[in-house]
Amino acid sequence: MYHLPSYYDTLNTPGTAEDIDLYCKIARRYGRAPNAWLEPACGTGRHLRVLAGRGFSACGFDLDPDMINYAKESLKTRGLRAHVFRAGMNDFIGPIRKRQFDIAINPHSSFRHLLDERDAISHLDQMATSLAPGGIYIVGVSLARYGLDKDESDLWLAVRGRRHIRQEITYKKPNRTKRIEEVHSRLTISRPQRVETHSDSYRLQTYDRTQWDRLLSRCRLRRVATLDEEGSEVSASHQPYQLEVLVSN
Ligand SMILES: C[S@@+](CC[C@H](N)C(=O)[O-])C[C@H]1O[C@@H](n2cnc3c(N)ncnc32)[C@H](O)[C@@H]1O
Repeated sequence: MYHLPSYYDTLNTPGTAEDIDLYCKIARRYGRAPNAWLEPACGTGRHLRVLAGRGFSACGFDLDPDMINYAKESLKTRGLRAHVFRAGMNDFIGPIRKRQFDIAINPHSSFRHLLDERDAISHLDQMATSLAPGGIYIVGVSLARYGLDKDESDLWLAVRGRRHIRQEITYKKPNRTKRIEEVHSRLTISRPQRVETHSDSYRLQTYDRTQWDRLLSRCRLRRVATLDEEGSEVSASHQPYQLEVLVSN
């Protein structure tokens, strides 16, 4: 799917401006004016476009060259400016060149693409260095409940011109021993003349609440809040998806 950025972008762009509104609100709530933004695993640059369009300083990186090219091109065609470069979440500090950010965002469980906990800690520690004092990192993650979680599917639909785009994503139940969640994507693009399908799979690292808390205890970022998708503080109760608000120690 990541090698087909225009379909990813069509499916995921709706709601992006509202998400940025939410992240701005969260930053201000936790004491930070969100002027300079960093997005690791920025994908097609859908957030960067909104940020640049609102006059914020925006910087993003991704490992996938197709995503990066799409992000750069989509900014350029709209006359928007953002710093976009290719890097892995476990090795981005060099290209940042000592810049410091007020806010970093990493939604959609992209953090869990890091399949090794050493890489995960390295990422969080590099983020701690990249944030200005008091800067915040909002990480959107789904945590596992081994033994309780079942296979789940999400359906995404979009229409662009005469193309109807449908993506079904299946998340296989997480495996406690391997700590891996298998994700299968099936993309169908229907045009008046023909139908095209693409299948793809990838793996995500899993964390249950205890594993997640242990990971955070081993890095230089400190959690200040756990929020639900609407930005309301939640207790330790399980959420399908949560926003972790982290600050540098
Ligand atoms: C679910 S997409 C999210 C993209 C974007 N943040 C958004 O919300 O639209 C996950 C992104 O993570 C990128 N990615 C996967 N592993 C990565 C890694 N180790 N370092 C940097 N980016 C990575 C993929 O190329 C993909 O663009």
